[in-house]
Amino acid sequence: MTAAIMDGRALAEQIKTQVADKTTALKARGIHPSIAIFLVGNDEASKIYVREKAKACRDVGIEAELFKFPAIGTDILISKIKKVNDDPSVHSILVQLPLPKHVDENKVLESISPEKDVDCLNPLNLGRLVIDSEGVESCTPRGIMRLLGRYGIGLEGKNVVIINRSKLLGKPLALMMLKKNATVSVCHSKTQDLERHTQRADIIVVGVGKPQFLRKDMVKQGAVIVDAGIAKAEGRVVGDADFEGLRGKASFITPVPGGVGPMTVAMVLENTTMLTERQSALK
Ligand code: GUN
Repeated sequence: MTAAIMDGRALAEQIKTQVADKTTALKARGIHPSIAIFLVGNDEASKIYVREKAKACRDVGIEAELFKFPAIGTDILISKIKKVNDDPSVHSILVQLPLPKHVDENKVLESISPEKDVDCLNPLNLGRLVIDSEGVESCTPRGIMRLLGRYGIGLEGKNVVIINRSKLLGKPLALMMLKKNATVSVCHSKTQDLERHTQRADIIVVGVGKPQFLRKDMVKQGAVIVDAGIAKAEGRVVGDADFEGLRGKASFITPVPGGVGPMTVAMVLENTTMLTERQSALK
């Protein structure tokens, strides 16, 4: 068996075209979708991600303002976010994580207006996800769900193993997959006998940032592999999966780069136009 590749880059491009059309239509009504992106500290990977997100926004006609704070404390950062919360010309707010250690992350995330919270990081939106109420869906999990849908991979009754328990990936994705009637196990660094879980999984989502972490002996024949990991190895960007080894055993696999990453960015765009429409009472 040779796994089919789930092409996140191609699907993201299609979504970008749809968002661009929507943005044009909004602008024709005098509404200019806009996002504020906060980059705090000096994390090199975060600098690259926010630059990519801002560029993708501008490519589709969304105004993107980047707020960069190499050194800032919790209270001042919150006051900056609140200013944007109160600015009706800004529809969407993204605080790139991780925040530096000295910043109180939970306090900062609680300060994002739930109406503008593009990444579903405010506890109210995370709570809405728990109770299946309409809010906003986290960008990376939503991108993964869209990619699975695009390739006709259903979730009902499937055994899913997610190796990641973060608020950006594992926790919201588990909730979204439960809603689709999957049986979900969330594994992490303290999980014992990880292989016992992965070998039973129909779908594996891995996001640990360790190259070659997921090997072919850990998965069953025909499994679907979603690689949300990102790391550098020998100067190249790679994911967590042994891509070549797994291609001979899985039914579907995402590449890195070109899989989950572009889908996350596409969902930032889609969520931003959705939030803009809601704030403009068009939805
Ligand atoms: N840090 C790494 N990935 C993400 C993401 O998708 N959103 C935010 N806000 N921070 C991140």
